[in-house]
Amino acid sequence: MATKTQTYQHNTDASLTVHDDVSIDKQIEKLIRSHKELSITRSNEANINFEGGPDSEGLKLLPASSRKRIEADGLDISKGYPEIPPRTQIPIFVDEAHAIRAEDAPYIERAKNADPEKKALLGAAKEVIHLTKNVGTEIVGLQLADLTDQQKDELALLVAERVVVFFRDQKLPPTKQHELGSYLGNIEYHAQVPHVTGLPGATVIWNDYINKKDSKLNFANANLANWDTLRYPGYGNQGWHTDLVHEHQPAGYTHLHLDAIPSIGGDTIWSSGYGAYDKLSDEFKKFLDGKKAVYVSSHAYLDREDPLGGPKKIERVHPLVRTHPATGWKSLYVNRGLTKRIIGVSPVESDLILNYLFDIYEKNADIQVRFKWSPTKEGYGTSAIWDNRISQHRAVWDHEGEESRHGTRVTSLAEVPFFDPESKSQREALGKPIHKWD
Ligand SMILES: [Fe+2]
Repeated sequence: MATKTQTYQHNTDASLTVHDDVSIDKQIEKLIRSHKELSITRSNEANINFEGGPDSEGLKLLPASSRKRIEADGLDISKGYPEIPPRTQIPIFVDEAHAIRAEDAPYIERAKNADPEKKALLGAAKEVIHLTKNVGTEIVGLQLADLTDQQKDELALLVAERVVVFFRDQKLPPTKQHELGSYLGNIEYHAQVPHVTGLPGATVIWNDYINKKDSKLNFANANLANWDTLRYPGYGNQGWHTDLVHEHQPAGYTHLHLDAIPSIGGDTIWSSGYGAYDKLSDEFKKFLDGKKAVYVSSHAYLDREDPLGGPKKIERVHPLVRTHPATGWKSLYVNRGLTKRIIGVSPVESDLILNYLFDIYEKNADIQVRFKWSPTKEGYGTSAIWDNRISQHRAVWDHEGEESRHGTRVTSLAEVPFFDPESKSQREALGKPIHKWD
């Protein structure tokens, strides 16, 4: 049978052909796939060219220290940097995006195999510095590239306890960082995020590059504390968030290594989910325990059944309070940008409760750590490894791109989140005082 078509023409030479016997979703998919200027998946306004492949323009911006590290690793970046995944890998419809990694994948919690005293790791370090009482530890005198498996297991446990662990003065090739990430979990591959050329899974954290692509990040919008990315486009990674909460098995350990660091500014702040949970009264803890919430992706897609209805995000349901599989401690699993609503209460109640919970994470300085990335030796980089299951973080863009800040990030996806009603809060487990109200 001949295809029935209708062609709509305006008084220009542009035309759009509609095929009556081809479903609308297929026609829209074809339209989007064949026009590279059409993007429905952006989470911000940066106009990254999703033709795919190494970016020769980006290479010109790459800081010398970053280039040296990447080339010393034997990676060929002569054709460009970073590498943009091919446009064909980006799903158009939310059902396709939802189906990615939707099946259970085996996950080994390395922290569970660790010696609770962590003697192999801490014993080999020159110094172990707790940066605050509750969150953040710096290890001095060890190279991440040289850790034994036993030390890696102990590092995983230390991160699970301290939320984030730092290593300055590192010589860490991107392929070694990738290797450590695959030891710690299932590496996340992202179709919308540029990665180190030749090394998918090692994504690039580089605002100078994004800004060159027309991002609207500026001093006025960079660090708005309560920016609602559910309603407005996000700018970079400045708002409080937890990585990849929309996954069936969301992010566990994330490892960010900076190889170009401003002399002043560009810090990152983390806040503890154990601490946030322990800020709540016993009665409120009881109310939240066992509740579930809807978590959304930062990128958007189209609804196949309603393709002109606007962008739709991936939605996944997880426990609002989750138990960490290694420490067994309860953590408050929410973040302002990506937790949409609590299931079982009215939308008004959900907004009210969630806003209070976001504030707890964002406003309590005694459950936070702010880290200055500077290495002590010229030509070395700094690593941070944190556990997304028990934290939020945000970057501080106070350097405004005046000095380069470039890093590579590897995220290891972990278990399907669960809530164990028998599990304890961190303070309960450590025997610290729990305040009784009335
Ligand atoms: Fe992040």
